[in-house]
Amino acid sequence: MASITCFLFLLASASLAKAQETRSNITKSSSLSPTSNSSSWLSPSGLYAFGFYPQGQGYAVGIFLAGILPRTVIWTVNRDNPPVSAGATVLFTNDGRLILRSSQGQETSITSATGSAYSASMLDSGNFVLYDPKGSVLWESFDYPTDTLLPTQRLLAGQQIISSISGTNHSTGIFRLKMQNGGNLVQYPVNTPDTAPYSYYTSWTGGTGDNVSLNFDVDGHLFLLNTTGYVIKNITSGGLPTNSIIYIFRIDSDGLMRLYSYDLNQKGNWSVVWRSRSDECDPKGLCGLNGFCVNNDQQANCQCLPGFDFVEPGNWAAGCERNFTAETCKTGDAGASYIIQAVDSTLWEDDSYSVVSSTDKDGCKQACLEDCNCEAALYNGGNCNKQRLPLRYGRRLVTDPTSALIKVGIAKPFNTNQNKKEITRMDILFLSLSLLAFGFVMMAISLVLICKNNVWSYQRIRKKIEVGLAKDQAPRLFTYAELELVTDSFKEQIGRGAFGTVYKGLIGEKMVAVKRLDKRLAEGEREFQTEVEVIGRTHHRNLVRLLGYCMEGTNRLLVYEYMSNGSLANVLFDSLESRPFWEERMEIARDIARGVQYLHEECETQIIHCDIKPQNILMGENRAKISDFGLAKLLNADQTRTFTGIRGTRGYVAPEWHRNQPVTVKADVYSFGIMLLEIICCRKSLELEFPEREAILEEWVCECFWNGEIEKLNGDEMVDEDELKAAIKVALWCISEDPLLRPTMKRVLLMLEGSAQIPMPPIPSSSIFTDKSFVVIA
Ligand SMILES: *[C@@H]1O[C@H](CO)[C@@H](O)[C@H](O)[C@H]1NC(C)=O
Ligand SMILES: *[C@@H]1O[C@H](CO)[C@@H](O)[C@H](O)[C@H]1NC(C)=O
Ligand SMILES: *[C@@H]1O[C@H](CO)[C@@H](O)[C@H](O)[C@H]1NC(C)=O
Ligand SMILES: *[C@@H]1O[C@H](CO)[C@@H](O)[C@H](O)[C@H]1NC(C)=O
Ligand SMILES: *[C@@H]1O[C@H](CO)[C@@H](O)[C@H](O)[C@H]1NC(C)=O
Ligand SMILES: *[C@@H]1O[C@H](CO)[C@@H](O)[C@H](O)[C@H]1NC(C)=O
Ligand SMILES: *[C@@H]1O[C@H](CO)[C@@H](O)[C@H](O)[C@H]1NC(C)=O
Ligand SMILES: *[C@@H]1O[C@H](CO)[C@@H](O)[C@H](O)[C@H]1NC(C)=O
Repeated sequence: MASITCFLFLLASASLAKAQETRSNITKSSSLSPTSNSSSWLSPSGLYAFGFYPQGQGYAVGIFLAGILPRTVIWTVNRDNPPVSAGATVLFTNDGRLILRSSQGQETSITSATGSAYSASMLDSGNFVLYDPKGSVLWESFDYPTDTLLPTQRLLAGQQIISSISGTNHSTGIFRLKMQNGGNLVQYPVNTPDTAPYSYYTSWTGGTGDNVSLNFDVDGHLFLLNTTGYVIKNITSGGLPTNSIIYIFRIDSDGLMRLYSYDLNQKGNWSVVWRSRSDECDPKGLCGLNGFCVNNDQQANCQCLPGFDFVEPGNWAAGCERNFTAETCKTGDAGASYIIQAVDSTLWEDDSYSVVSSTDKDGCKQACLEDCNCEAALYNGGNCNKQRLPLRYGRRLVTDPTSALIKVGIAKPFNTNQNKKEITRMDILFLSLSLLAFGFVMMAISLVLICKNNVWSYQRIRKKIEVGLAKDQAPRLFTYAELELVTDSFKEQIGRGAFGTVYKGLIGEKMVAVKRLDKRLAEGEREFQTEVEVIGRTHHRNLVRLLGYCMEGTNRLLVYEYMSNGSLANVLFDSLESRPFWEERMEIARDIARGVQYLHEECETQIIHCDIKPQNILMGENRAKISDFGLAKLLNADQTRTFTGIRGTRGYVAPEWHRNQPVTVKADVYSFGIMLLEIICCRKSLELEFPEREAILEEWVCECFWNGEIEKLNGDEMVDEDELKAAIKVALWCISEDPLLRPTMKRVLLMLEGSAQIPMPPIPSSSIFTDKSFVVIA
């Protein structure tokens, strides 16, 4: 203790002057060992040390503040490696490597330096540096920060610091602070993509340049600087006293970032000079899955959902798990073995698979109880978002109206008797046998499919691994100039649609489709942005992804992922060779139905496509994707009201359009029905060259169907008659004249998947034919 006091006195009297014995010039064949007098190399001032410090039952190697207790660790070598024992040594070898040798003789490299080092130094800035013979820096610890930054250290674009497990365990924790390319400084949980839904702090400086860095001055000034030396943003104001006071900046294990100071003269405690304005419950993932954070008097506290216990008591981040065995659920026996418990005023990440709108809380409870897939529902003023577990990022917010309704099993503790194991074994046996049988069947089917040797094999392409952008990437704002570059001045046109022209572009190595909207859509900057946001929030494998947009003057452009295999129209109608087989066509139909169902029922904002047709279905590497959705709204602010003009494309347009009746999702169902007929028959809905009776596809199908002659419809392809009939029945339901008779897209999908009965379609009234004739004549 005396030596520490003396040491601090030294520091105090000659603040950062050189101490008597400096060991900052570290030469080859120097070594350290944890229990000897030389367990670390000090910086000239004696403030910082590189060497061993106690960690758990053993020792770790790193940089820490010497003489300040409790020890403050700044940096750790290989932070996730287990601690070493007292017999370990750090060696600066004669061939210029810095290694850690365990007592068993195992060697690990301390630095990632490639060349051979000539000398090393622990600098007064807290930077540990290796030099080559010429004295230039070969490697420095400042380039590899763990959770702390020191004054003069910088966090460069693309770099991040990651919190520690706790104040005493410096292994990789669960929060990170990233200096993003693009200029934004953002905090996320670890193991998440760099996208907005995961962030819990941002400096709001995105788009300010590529090489923006986080800088830290000795006076506690933290700021973002761009390459031309322009201060983009001050994080802290700086200007704090520097005489005998030192600062460190750290992302703490609770996920908050803080600027600390320590007064060397008053050997007191570290004090927090600044912290981000985040609430203690802001850091996402603090409570793990199925837990939620409650802020009691500026202290975060995690709790589990009702019916859940902590996975590891004391470790919040590990989350919570059910403390009951889930009974098998059968649709219909609602409430038999479950009840619903509510967690009020709590916010969650909404990851719902289905939304029941305009219901009350009891309705929401009931809806969840009756749905075997529903494990929890988030209810907020009218909307019931049905979810599967786990729930993420939960936190109590007294002012928030959201309640989580949790399905909880009626107290049935774990079944511990002997039978269970046997049953489980029987289950496994049965499951294995089923899987084996299933495997054989699949193999047989695959063989048959492969033997058919078709040119455009949907199934085969489907198996390729899908590579894509990060899933939740929000659409990026591009400048017009950027898109000019991307498309090589709009050189290669790849299509023209109802809203504008599509050009091919290249971003990095990724091909994109850039859609330039017609000028008539130029008004309404706000509407455009709102719409882009709505479209940008859609994420479904059967929807073409919106990657970005541009809005400059009267220019409105949308950047989509590029679909390499053309449109469904190309595939169906262009040539006989490209035509997919029946099974593949039905899979395409189901894919499209899934996409439309998502637009209708699962988006945050319901989207009516209004222009479903084969030209708007694009064929990706392995699946069909719907394009051009969400755009109809740009032409008309309120979709639920009657449209003033007819949108959509002739032939696919539902009869209510012509009658000025309100247009609902059922208009899409109609268009889907017409397209399904085209998919079934591999011909366009209108073929004027065909004999008069056959020219209009839906009339021709109706005639064949009601006369019991459906075999006339499939050309010479071998198709199971029942399957063909089922598909036609679905299509005929979809094109019912009365929108109310048309099934929902969900039902359509169930019918196409064979999991719902398909009743006989309604017998068409003659007025349909009149309407159709109108379309042809008009
Ligand atoms: C470090 O020590 C070596 C050997 O004593 C000497 O050659 C070298 O110049 C010293 N370097 C510095 C930076 O003092
Ligand atoms: C450690 O240093 C003290 C005081 O400087 C000295 O008395 C002691 O012998 C040293 N121990 C070793 C193992 O070098
Ligand atoms: C630090 O935490 C990690 C993860 O919980 C654990 O595996 C490791 O053993 C801990 N280390 C020490 C020294 O307690
Ligand atoms: C840095 O920011 C200034 C002011 O915004 C800007 O004029 C300059 O172009 C930026 N430099 C870079 C390299 O982006
Ligand atoms: C950013 O830094 C990288 C690497 O130093 C360099 O290649 C790039 O041109 C820089 N970008 C800008 C906009 O300065
Ligand atoms: C940042 O702070 C410095 C003083 O620390 C001040 O001179 C400068 O104007 C500030 N810059 C911005 C962008 O706020
Ligand atoms: C430092 O912190 C400890 C415990 O938190 C407290 O007891 C002590 O009074 C503090 N010392 C100073 C100088 O603030
Ligand atoms: C499960 O946890 C709840 C508290 O959330 C408790 O009331 C219930 O008794 C527990 N059930 C079992 C079987 O442990």
